[in-house]
Amino acid sequence: MCDVGAIRKVVIFLKIIQILAEPNPQLNLPPYSSSTPSYDNIYPKSDVNRKYDPYDPNRKNQDPYDANRDVYSRDNPYYNYNLGYPEEPGYSSPRPINADGSRNEFPGGSGGLFDPNNPDDRFKNRSPYRGDIRGLLQALDLQASQQCTANVAAQWNFETNVNEATQLEALNAQQAYSEFQHGLWELINRLEKLENIQDPIISRQLRYYSIVGPAALPPDQLDRYNRLINDMLSVYNSATICAHNEPFRCGLRLQPDLVSIMASSRNWDELQFVWTEWRRNTGQQIKDTYEQMVQISNEAARLNNFTNTAEYWNFPFESSTLNDDLEDAWQEVKPLYELLHAYVRRRLRDYYGPDKISRQAPLPAHILGNMWAQSWVNIFDITQPYPGHNFLDVTPEMIKQGYSPIDIFRLAEDFFVSLNLSALPTDFWSGSILQEPLDRVVLCQPSAWDFCNRRDYRIKMCTQVNMKDLITAHHELAHIHYFIQYKNLPKVFRDGANPAFHEAIGEAIGLSVGTPRHLQALGLVQTSVEETSVDINYLYAMALDKVVFLPYAYIMDKWRYDIFKRERVKDQLNCNWWRLSEEYMGIKPPVLRSEIDFDPGSKYHIPANIPYMR
Ligand SMILES: *[C@@H]1O[C@H](CO)[C@@H](O)[C@H](O)[C@H]1NC(C)=O
Ligand SMILES: *[C@@H]1O[C@H](CO)[C@@H](O)[C@H](O)[C@H]1NC(C)=O
Repeated sequence: MCDVGAIRKVVIFLKIIQILAEPNPQLNLPPYSSSTPSYDNIYPKSDVNRKYDPYDPNRKNQDPYDANRDVYSRDNPYYNYNLGYPEEPGYSSPRPINADGSRNEFPGGSGGLFDPNNPDDRFKNRSPYRGDIRGLLQALDLQASQQCTANVAAQWNFETNVNEATQLEALNAQQAYSEFQHGLWELINRLEKLENIQDPIISRQLRYYSIVGPAALPPDQLDRYNRLINDMLSVYNSATICAHNEPFRCGLRLQPDLVSIMASSRNWDELQFVWTEWRRNTGQQIKDTYEQMVQISNEAARLNNFTNTAEYWNFPFESSTLNDDLEDAWQEVKPLYELLHAYVRRRLRDYYGPDKISRQAPLPAHILGNMWAQSWVNIFDITQPYPGHNFLDVTPEMIKQGYSPIDIFRLAEDFFVSLNLSALPTDFWSGSILQEPLDRVVLCQPSAWDFCNRRDYRIKMCTQVNMKDLITAHHELAHIHYFIQYKNLPKVFRDGANPAFHEAIGEAIGLSVGTPRHLQALGLVQTSVEETSVDINYLYAMALDKVVFLPYAYIMDKWRYDIFKRERVKDQLNCNWWRLSEEYMGIKPPVLRSEIDFDPGSKYHIPANIPYMR
């Protein structure tokens, strides 16, 4: 495949010769268009403006869990929409101005400290640090918590009541929070003699405060960075294609149309058409913008004292061997993946015929039930080991027993209580939105929220009475319990032990809740679940989702890290993507690709510049 890149190189080379041969050589580069965002028409607009700052402990946890059969998977744009709570804005509730026009000290702060929000105070020629680093951190803790609470509240108001007014407030909150972070960053950078600090907890706090991601950029650069991402997401979010055999039926969107075709169509040509068209209208359109964004992203990383964005994204894992550890972990899973892959290939060969599926070649990416081949659970029906011995779906039983959304959460609460965790605070029940309100627009993606005040924890979920949501409810509550467990730590530490922990805990809980045996214990299964064929089918479905996802998630960031580190030349971006896909996932594109294509860009996290490793 990289040969295509080589051909292109020759073409470019010839073009350069041509240009140089002109009397007045000019590189006719398209100007960067700065005022494009066409997302004004797309509601909700603000999903285009979330950047991820992996180090922001304020980030609330968006739920990712796409229980097996969920079309609203990790790929729903909204799904990640808050993962990146980074520039989690926070808006500062305006502090009172004193009669003489000066601002009050920030609440609780001992007089004479600094106020990161006050430009006059911004450490002009004096270091605000006068030796009392503990006092400084305490003040920061309070300030950061308040910023966080205000910001989270603004985001909550928007997501649970989508309209122009709440959106504007959410965006303003985000902006203000960036400014707050920038102020903090400048402050910490001005502190002296930090290397003398012995206490590892104190220096770790300072370290975390000093890493603010893109907020470290000067305002014009930050603005440009945001616009590049907005432009890409605008392309991604508004992309549509026409139907396969009906060129006049157009306007098909990723959600719900294309996701559904990829999941359920078994028409080879139709799948190939949809697969190709989606990439033509997304990835291909954003390649240049992506390359510009990478440069600024690396610039932001450097301002945070990292050599590039890859190193910045790795920081919260606090491991110098992370990349090797990941590769080792993958090597452990690989034998299982290879067995699964070989089995699926055999079954698809039976289904589509030996002329379409080779005994040896990688699998074509378009027939695996998912736009990105990241989960194959949607081809369970045509590949299951024991047809007819379906694993359990307790949905009918839940309906029969008259479950309501609240009942589902009460049941989930009991699960955690049985693990010896406490019951949920009453505020949780009064503040949460557990079913879709009818009087306003809500972004329904399930998510768990920490309001940063050690009291207020909420879930937003448009719960349906079915098995998937039963498991998701447990997953979300796992986030809430995690929030509660670390609530007494300093604000800057109130987050998962590393970016993977929150999801890992939620997934572990979700997996144990969904087992046939547990469902039987809940009285949702009346029949025996001891049959091996049922068990195998259940485990197979799990593997199609969970095991298959591992190499996909791994190469997503492996590919990007190469770009951030500039180890890969620009004219092999797409080629390298397919090289990794083949090597790790054993899949290949259904049609010939070239460097005009930018297939990774057809996946939300690439234009959004959100890390995938978590
Ligand atoms: C939704 O937002 C609008 C505009 O801010 C506000 O007037 C309305 O009361 C909000 N609705 C709810 C239920 O909070
Ligand atoms: C187009 O394809 C779809 C799905 O494959 C099928 O249901 C439909 O009948 C086809 N339409 C025409 C005009 O062939």
